Amino acid sequence: MTGLVVAMDGPSGSGKSSASRGVARALGLRYLDTGAMYRAVTWWMLEQGVDLTDPAAITARALDPVLSMGTDPDAPTVAVDGADAAVAIRTSEVTAAVSAVSAVPKVRRRLVAEQREIIGGGGIVVEGRDIGTVVTPGAPVKIYLTASADARALRRTAELTGTTVEAQRAAMARRDTLDSTRKTDPLAMAADAVELDTTALNLEEVIAEVLRVIKEKA
Ligand code: DC
Repeated sequence: MTGLVVAMDGPSGSGKSSASRGVARALGLRYLDTGAMYRAVTWWMLEQGVDLTDPAAITARALDPVLSMGTDPDAPTVAVDGADAAVAIRTSEVTAAVSAVSAVPKVRRRLVAEQREIIGGGGIVVEGRDIGTVVTPGAPVKIYLTASADARALRRTAELTGTTVEAQRAAMARRDTLDSTRKTDPLAMAADAVELDTTALNLEEVIAEVLRVIKEKA
């Protein structure tokens, strides 16, 4: 399993994070949350007062924040300019702004290069939106997780406080549209990915199914 790369793509709320961590744990692999990298850059830009309605302003600062990602599936970490940002990147403010930042080509080029560097010789489960299509198109195992809009909204609502299923469904639909219609590296399923609908599955069942696909493919 040392050289193995497992690409896990799909929309928000499809169960990617929990499943990816569980699979990495089960196989003794590293784990990379690429969404956390886009969130970290977004958080830094908000802190710096960058105008996120202006792609040129985002482009001008795209290379400035220094990111450091920890890949232990039991305790993944994200630091920006040396300071822990794991909690800060999960606020609703960052979630609402991240699609604008992740649509900027210079941000994507930079983060894709860093992701490839972290992936290195493999031994890793990588989750995101463009992992199987752009970051590691040669990955031997590609999974595309989906779930019904209701199931995804329900899961997100259970993870958050002070929100409703209706509000989450609307917010996710907006983010999905932005993520899948952007010009650079949109959310898409790779032609050779295995699609897995998690609507009726619990976490253990999703992990078991992914492990079965890995056994078959790798
Ligand atoms: O997985 P997440 O919801 O934490 O990701 C946050 C945002 O980052 C998501 O709305 C789209 C973007 N993203 C991306 O554009 N490419 C990736 N590989 C991962 C995330």
